[in-house]
Amino acid sequence: MAGAPDAASLMGNVPFFAGLDEKKRKSIATQGKEISYKAGDKIVEDGSMGVGFYLILDGRAEVRKGSKILATLGKGQFFGEMSLIDEQPRSADVVALSPTRCWALSSWAFASVVKTNPEIPMMMLKEMARRLRSAQSSPTS
Ligand code: CMP
Repeated sequence: MAGAPDAASLMGNVPFFAGLDEKKRKSIATQGKEISYKAGDKIVEDGSMGVGFYLILDGRAEVRKGSKILATLGKGQFFGEMSLIDEQPRSADVVALSPTRCWALSSWAFASVVKTNPEIPMMMLKEMARRLRSAQSSPTS
């Protein structure tokens, strides 16, 4: 797939894949595809059914629930995992803040990658715990 080697080498620098060896990274990279977004594009829509998992290769995106900003995500961070894990609608909008390049994985490929690489769910759980703590410590409005 075009772009896969680039994604694989970038993945070596992001925490999500840092624990995997080069061969595994390359194999996983070929299962997804790169998608580019313009500033302002809605990558994920609150309430829609989830079909993809996203890792930011370049750029920045904001997680929004109505008028509330839940988080700003940048290079090496992921989103879209919640819907794929619990098969519920998307929990928030995710909007590109600048030209943003993502590596996207379909829901079925995500399930297979997570099953065959036990390092990935553990890393994802750690990040989800960090996000929960951050949400708990942010003031309610
Ligand atoms: P999902 O529900 O599939 O789609 C919206 C995504 O936004 C969600 O998965 C998470 O990846 C992300 N997200 C939702 N809430 C937060 C939060 N409080 N902090 C960071 N990211 C979040």
